[in-house]
Amino acid sequence: MAKQKFGARKHTKKKLDVLDDYLGFFPVALKTKGYRLIYIDAFAGTGEVLLVESDEPLLPGIAPEQEKIDGSAVRALRATIPFDEYVFIEKSQSKLDKLAQELERQFPDRIDRCKFICDDANAAIKDICKTTNWTNYRAVVFLDPFGNQISWDTLEAIAQTRAADLWYLFPAGLGVYRQIPKKGKTQSKAAQSVTRMLGSNEWMFLFTEQTSTENLFGETEVNTQRAVSVEAITTHAISRLRTIFRGGVLDQYVSLGGKAVPWYSLLFACSNPNDAAKTLAHRVAGWIVDHA
Ligand SMILES: C[S@@+](CC[C@H](N)C(=O)[O-])C[C@H]1O[C@@H](n2cnc3c(N)ncnc32)[C@H](O)[C@@H]1O
Repeated sequence: MAKQKFGARKHTKKKLDVLDDYLGFFPVALKTKGYRLIYIDAFAGTGEVLLVESDEPLLPGIAPEQEKIDGSAVRALRATIPFDEYVFIEKSQSKLDKLAQELERQFPDRIDRCKFICDDANAAIKDICKTTNWTNYRAVVFLDPFGNQISWDTLEAIAQTRAADLWYLFPAGLGVYRQIPKKGKTQSKAAQSVTRMLGSNEWMFLFTEQTSTENLFGETEVNTQRAVSVEAITTHAISRLRTIFRGGVLDQYVSLGGKAVPWYSLLFACSNPNDAAKTLAHRVAGWIVDHA
């Protein structure tokens, strides 16, 4: 059976097309406003993504159809109107080296605008958010994790900039729904990762229910079972984000991956409370999501 490439199927293209569209809009809308514009890609990868078309197990000896497409970093650099600065964060040094080489080869005249950070996304973003003078900057942050890597305090740091728009690949299906067994308690490591990601453990009460049954000996047994859909998990994440993003969070999102259950929900949040800024950001992001 062919091994599936995790996170590298058709949904990847849709996700990147959404990002592409927003990165095309953002510098155009802000170019006359006098801010320095910064794009922050916290799970940068190598600049290239391998798409495996087949969702199905393949017969031995039959290779899945494959296609290579440009990843988020290359798409960010190739936008017609550039950002002033690009920050690429990647925890794998070898991937980051490959990315830096690729960007230098493809965009020699823009490479001076790029900064490459080999670190954990949470640590690097919190540091950037703390050390940047946000009165002079406006940003787009792209969070593209495989799973539950983003912790709530990282989202708080982005929200507190009041200058950054966020696209977040929230792992509603893979990272939350599938971690809660149909029957039985969520394993403690998985539960901790969900709580860290959502910034609260209220999901335990909202996403599960307890039923009581009587066993053969007349004793009452309490069972925990999953009582939530991926859609409800996403709605909960949106309402959690609304508690910190002063420019609001889009109701619409893009469901991505998975046949039976979507794996991810691509969310948009705006940290800027300014009326004109948030209205424009929501209008454009909403249009892009509706047409994805
Ligand atoms: C889904 S891929 C990103 C793909 C990329 N955005 C693109 O479009 O080409 C996730 C990447 O994040 C990196 N990664 C995983 N955990 C990380 C972490 N905690 N901090 C930073 N990077 C991480 C992985 O090495 C991998 O390259």
